[in-house]
Amino acid sequence: MKDNRKVVLIGTGMVGMSMAYSLMNTGGIDELVLIDIDEEKAKGEAMDLNHGLPYSMNKMVIKAGNYNECRDADIVVICAGANQKEGQTRLELTKVNTRIIKDISLKIKYSGFQGIVIVASNPVDILSYVVYKVMGIDKSKVIGTGTLLDTARMRYLLSEYLDVSSDDIEAYILGEHGDSSFISWMNTYVGCKTLIEYVEERNLDMNDLNEIYDDVKNAAYEIIERKKATYYGIGISLNKLILSIFNDTHKILCVSAYLEHEYKHGDIFIGVPCIICKEGIKEVVQLPLNGVDQAKFDDSYEILREIKREVKK
Ligand code: LAC
Repeated sequence: MKDNRKVVLIGTGMVGMSMAYSLMNTGGIDELVLIDIDEEKAKGEAMDLNHGLPYSMNKMVIKAGNYNECRDADIVVICAGANQKEGQTRLELTKVNTRIIKDISLKIKYSGFQGIVIVASNPVDILSYVVYKVMGIDKSKVIGTGTLLDTARMRYLLSEYLDVSSDDIEAYILGEHGDSSFISWMNTYVGCKTLIEYVEERNLDMNDLNEIYDDVKNAAYEIIERKKATYYGIGISLNKLILSIFNDTHKILCVSAYLEHEYKHGDIFIGVPCIICKEGIKEVVQLPLNGVDQAKFDDSYEILREIKREVKK
């Protein structure tokens, strides 16, 4: 990667701008270009962020621009598209957002872009596949946010329930970023103990844990019912992913990645733990799944495969 860490954001709605605001506060990139179909909106967002720079610890170039700015960008983040309405599933956005993302993917491709594409628009697993197919780039260079936020939600809620720092809770939400996702309890750890050992030692109730997982799965619906959209959680999740790439952390993050054969499936983008590095996805981490978990993974895969078939028509 070049010295100048350049990110292009496509879609200056609340998700994208939460990411932008988060990056302005943590620092870690040198240049942020904002692209939106509403060019005046992008200009206004750039102005608003720039006016806060004097009080920010970080100096970065923030400007509105066009797709030519993608050519020398390291990372392009796609947040454009319709978002979930109250009671709507993410998969119901497939038709409208596939059309939008196909158009955006072609514009990025023809800009001469050679970097990494992060997809946050929903349904993120399907749209990551669309970007991968339309741009025709290496699978390691297309990263969907997938279950990155779901995993953070699970770690937060488990931390509250167990009264243990979320830093010491290792949890992996697998599958679709949506209603068919699931947690692999056998791969969940509290410090060096499995969660199951931790629960048994303290005589805790597994029903409580299953309810916690339901809260994670329904979190977006609950938030949208109250404030019409979600954006801060996903915005910070994008920050985490972007800085993991630039800093070559080799951290394991749950993202929507292309499977070739892992978890017994292929030719799909789906939420799995991956090692993240400066080249994008270094590898998909194959967790040991018992029969119950594999069946849940298979179910989630089948749901995405069916939707993907529709998209390819
Ligand atoms: C959510 C969006 C990012 O789960 O799908 O809040």
